[in-house]
Amino acid sequence: MKIPNHIAIILDGNGRWAKSKGMPRNYGHVKGCDNLEYICEVAKELGVKYLTVYAFSTENWKRSREEVEGLMRLFRNYLKKCIKISKKNNMRVRIIGDPTAFDQDIQDSIRELEEFSKDFDDLHFQIALNYGSRDEICRAVNRMLKDQAEGRLTGPVTEETISGYLDTGEIPDPDLLIRTSGELRLSNFLLWQLAYTEFYFTPVPWPDFKKDELLKAIGKYNERDRRYGGVKEE
Ligand code: FPP
Repeated sequence: MKIPNHIAIILDGNGRWAKSKGMPRNYGHVKGCDNLEYICEVAKELGVKYLTVYAFSTENWKRSREEVEGLMRLFRNYLKKCIKISKKNNMRVRIIGDPTAFDQDIQDSIRELEEFSKDFDDLHFQIALNYGSRDEICRAVNRMLKDQAEGRLTGPVTEETISGYLDTGEIPDPDLLIRTSGELRLSNFLLWQLAYTEFYFTPVPWPDFKKDELLKAIGKYNERDRRYGGVKEE
């Protein structure tokens, strides 16, 4: 079975999963976070080189104060704990999105984790935090304008130029996108990067998405005929 080089996952369904158990939404996020830790290990063991997950969107600030506070607590704890996890998994961690909206201590933890893990390279793990694809593209264009005005960028702008200015920089585009919990949309995730990616949607909520489910998604990916618009060689 061919293992995709880069898997992207929209982590969805924590809230509904918790509700189905009569628990508060933040309990679902805690279990979702545990599952993220577990799936990183599974991905590494399977030989996945890049894993990118959508953990908090630019829209997620609109959730209740209680839920946002719960998520911030979770991010705080996880970013600290992730120092050890990155070492254990030989995993480089990068945050994509705009971190400037977070409290200073969270921004400091992000910098510390990225710096600490920068030479690990079994698994490259990207966490999208305060991420929105349109916002990412706007930030990239504004940086391009600034670099052009200051002489660091000269035209013509190519697809590679734009890819390079995105938060995902030199990270290759995803081969497989998974969205858990039944919704069939992209929710402003990696719009540019997913141009040729295979999509897999499953009704399984994120906290229940275990190794067997990941293997099922990879199995489906293997059944697909990836042609990139070209003619298939018979
Ligand atoms: C979507 O489920 C999930 C989120 C908005 C948060 C994702 C967060 C985690 C998996 C845990 C923490 C991650 C890190 C990096 C520490 P939902 O709340 O939209 O579920 P619903 O659609 O059932 O309401």
